[in-house]
Amino acid sequence: CGIVAYVGPKDAAPILLEGLQRLEYRGYDSAGLAVVNRGLKVRKVKGRVADLAAAVPARFKGGLGIGHTRWATHGAPSDVNAHPHLDGAERIAVVHNGILENADEIRAKLVADGVDFVSETDTEVLAHLIARAVKETGTLADAVRTALKAVVGTYGIAVVDAERPGEVVVARNGSPIVIGIGEKEMFAASDVAALVRYTRQVVHLEDGELAVLKADGFHTFTMDARETAKVPLTVDWDAGHYDTGGYEHYLLKEINEQPETVARTLRGRIDDRFHIAHLGGLNLTPHETRAFRRVKIIGCGSAYYSGQIGAQLIEELARIPADAEPASEFRYRNPVVEHDTLYVAISQSGETYDTLAAVQELKRKGGRVLGIVNTVGSAIARECDGGIYLHAGPEVSVASTKAFTSTAVAFALLALHFGRVHDLSPADGRRICEGLRRLPEQIREILGREEEIAALARKYADRPSMMFVGRVRGYPVAREGAQKLKEVSYVHAEAYPASELKHGPLALIGPDMPTVAVVPDDELLDKNLTTLGEIRARGGQVLMVGHRMAEAKLADDCIVVPKNEVELDPILLTIPLQLFAYHAAVALGRDVDKPRNLAKSVTVE
Ligand code: G6P
Repeated sequence: CGIVAYVGPKDAAPILLEGLQRLEYRGYDSAGLAVVNRGLKVRKVKGRVADLAAAVPARFKGGLGIGHTRWATHGAPSDVNAHPHLDGAERIAVVHNGILENADEIRAKLVADGVDFVSETDTEVLAHLIARAVKETGTLADAVRTALKAVVGTYGIAVVDAERPGEVVVARNGSPIVIGIGEKEMFAASDVAALVRYTRQVVHLEDGELAVLKADGFHTFTMDARETAKVPLTVDWDAGHYDTGGYEHYLLKEINEQPETVARTLRGRIDDRFHIAHLGGLNLTPHETRAFRRVKIIGCGSAYYSGQIGAQLIEELARIPADAEPASEFRYRNPVVEHDTLYVAISQSGETYDTLAAVQELKRKGGRVLGIVNTVGSAIARECDGGIYLHAGPEVSVASTKAFTSTAVAFALLALHFGRVHDLSPADGRRICEGLRRLPEQIREILGREEEIAALARKYADRPSMMFVGRVRGYPVAREGAQKLKEVSYVHAEAYPASELKHGPLALIGPDMPTVAVVPDDELLDKNLTTLGEIRARGGQVLMVGHRMAEAKLADDCIVVPKNEVELDPILLTIPLQLFAYHAAVALGRDVDKPRNLAKSVTVE
């Protein structure tokens, strides 16, 4: 979901709409805004921000307002369930990201007290609670504090009061709020994307903090009304990073950015003299690095799959046992936290709630956590003890691509670093350094074959279902390939280790179920080729993604990618599968950048 707020001399509505457009990738099933101008003026629609813009009349003037774009949790997408939510007297308007766990309880009490509810949302209880409190406390900030003390759950909120046309109150607990500092005007949003067009001076709220914004400044304080001191940060990303840059979709733009984004993740981090990686942000001494006996990697969705590539790299290069697990599972199973395990959390946005909660649980139990994060200053980055920033620039398309490859590259650097502290030889260190340097050019080479891959995507897009298989290094690539296809084309896709096919899923193979086989030229090549034979013997078509033309005759179709070092090949093998998913989605007429039911960053549980 996305939040935007404005207070200043300009009309708020166009600024809110522009900001919401930038945040639409965060959720897009309904949208709404409220401006204060002799009372509250509110518009809400089921659908996209463009539909909201069409519904907002020109007479919505006024320099104070809040807006929201929603990804439904409580209550189906509809006009009434869209935010902002108001109290009965239409004095208070609230937009909210997150989930209030005790909303039903509070709602029942308020209903018993004679309050009428119009929506099914948890947020509406906040509007009523604040409206009641403001009559007693006098100030909006105190009323918001009082109301928030009554709720349990996660929130990022922005609140306006029709009787206070000069201020907006924002608060954060588990769901991000960033304040943007302008010239005699102030902004707030759930994501810097909504702010960078107006200002690059920002302040991140911490959990348990609130802020009052007025045109000429802001102040922040805790839930006990103690003032807090904040130092503004300058964000590197500007509005240009959020344009499609002439591409038809963000997804295609971001796929094509990868030669550059991978180069940025590597920049300044490879030492060609000692064949080591410079990772200044880790905050680990060589002694501490050697003391870790295990690495546990956590993340959600594509971040988790890139973590599987990372685990493989760390085991291979550093010979430290490593594995990856979905952060969403990890946090719920009361994990055993060991002092000699290094934990690594991965997140593009740095705000995914499941990952953040897992990191917080680890910290509570004394775990040492590194973050591999794209968004500088994000909640997960701040929570970790150290880490690696990806420097991939903002990722807007819901399906992750450039953050995925940059994460895998960051893991290669981490594995090289750990390896060279353990017993990776200088010669192998050099081999990896040279391989890493070749990646951007090789990615460019793969991107040059887009037309060929698009033709294959069109050929297979009409199948109801596809199998993706890979073995060891190829398996996370297969999983990510299947994930991309599912996300953007809605074609059912299964990913299996090639070795497991004969233990069950082979029963699915037949003319209706083609297989994408990830077949790197490594020591498992022969084993993989046997699997291809098994599939074709059952009437299954095979699209092979690999390195060797000679083997192409064993498949119906083949995408050959340039070869790097075996450990780094998974990074390159991922790229054609991104293009495959993109072109399958385009062929099927899907909304590529905003696939149904999904959101870019899930800041709720
Ligand atoms: C959402 C997105 C996925 C993404 C995952 C983790 O589910 O739809 O594309 O991989 O969150 O996001 P993060 O920002 O933590 O990497």
